[in-house]
Amino acid sequence: MMGHGDKLLRFAEELDVNPEKILDFSSNINPFPPESVMEFLHENLNLLKFYPESSYTDVRSVISETFDIPVNQIMLGNGSIELIKYFFLVIRPERTLIPYPTFTEFERYAESINSRILHVHERDIISGEFISHLGEVDACVICNPNNPTGRTIPKKIIEETVGEAEKRNCMLLVDMAYADFVDDAEDLPVSENTFVTRTLTKILGIPGLRAGYGFAPVRISEKIERIRDPWNLNSLAYGILKNFIPELHEIKEGICRKLRDLRRDLIARLNTINGLKTFESETHYFLVKHAEMKKVDEELRNKKILIRLCDDFRGLDNRYARISVRKEGDNRRLFNELKSLIP
Ligand SMILES: Cc1ncc(COP(=O)(O)O)c(C=O)c1O
Repeated sequence: MMGHGDKLLRFAEELDVNPEKILDFSSNINPFPPESVMEFLHENLNLLKFYPESSYTDVRSVISETFDIPVNQIMLGNGSIELIKYFFLVIRPERTLIPYPTFTEFERYAESINSRILHVHERDIISGEFISHLGEVDACVICNPNNPTGRTIPKKIIEETVGEAEKRNCMLLVDMAYADFVDDAEDLPVSENTFVTRTLTKILGIPGLRAGYGFAPVRISEKIERIRDPWNLNSLAYGILKNFIPELHEIKEGICRKLRDLRRDLIARLNTINGLKTFESETHYFLVKHAEMKKVDEELRNKKILIRLCDDFRGLDNRYARISVRKEGDNRRLFNELKSLIP
C-alpha cells in the first residue's frame, strides 16, 4: 500500500537522517499541535503496561457529552481509517458513489468488497449532479473538507444530501478528518443513514498514535461493535481521546485562523511564480499545478523537502501536487526553493 502523505519515515530512512530534519509539506498534519499532547504521552507511557478497558466506557461518555450523541452511536477506531473500512465491510454496498479527486482509500475499500463504483467530479456535489444519483447506489461518500483539494461543502448541500440519502435508502459516509481545521464544516450531520468519521491524529499532530472516532445509526454501530477487535484503541490513544476531546473546540479556535492566514500568504507568494498554478482551498492544504511538477518534486527531495505528488489521485496526474502549510519560516523556505527551481 503506497502513495499516502506518509512517506516521511521511509524517506528519512533512505537518506539516513532524523525525520525531524525533513521539511514535510506532504502530510496534512497540524503544524501547531498543543504542547500538552506530547506532555500527556510522556507522562502516561505506563498505560502501555495495561490492556485498554475494551468497552471504552469513559471515552464514549466524554464524546457523547461533547457532541451530544447517544453513547451507543459512538464508534472508536485505530484511526478513522478503521471506521471507514467498517463502513464498507458492514454495509456492503453493491454500488457506491464516490466523487473525485478524493482520499484514495474509499475506492480501495469499495473495491475490496466488489462494490461497483460510480464516479462523479467533486464539483458535481455543488452542482446537484451528485444528489441526482443517490437513487442508483446503495452508498455514497463525501469528504468534507475534501482531500486533496481542501474544498468544503456548504452546510445547505450537506443537509440536502442527508435528506435525499435517507429518502433513497442510500447510506452516506461523511469523512470529517479535517473538519477541525475549518469553522464552516464543523456541524455533525446526523440521520438514520449517515455514518460520520472524525480523528484526532490530524489536529493534535499524532498520526503515529491512531485515534479515530465516529458516529453511526445504532443498527450499524452495534454490528461494528460485534466485529471489531477488543482493543482496537490502544491505551494511549484511549487516554488522548478522553482528555483532549473536551478541549477540542478551544484547541481548534486559534489554529484555524492562524493556518488560514499562512495559507493565504503562501498562495500569494506562489502565485508570483511563472507557470505555477495554485487552486483555491478552505483548509490548510491546497493543490498546485505545474507542467514539470514531477521534476520539481524530485529536486525538492534532493533538498530534503517533501510535497505530495498527486499522480495516484483519480482525476489528477503528475502535474499536480498537494502542499500542506507549515510555520512561516518553513513556508518561506519552500517558496524560495520553488522560485529557484521554476525560473
Ligand atoms: C480524508 C482522510 N480521511 C481519513 C484519513 C485517515 O486518518 P486517521 O486514520 O489517521 O484518522 C486520512 C488520512 O490521511 C484522510 O486524509
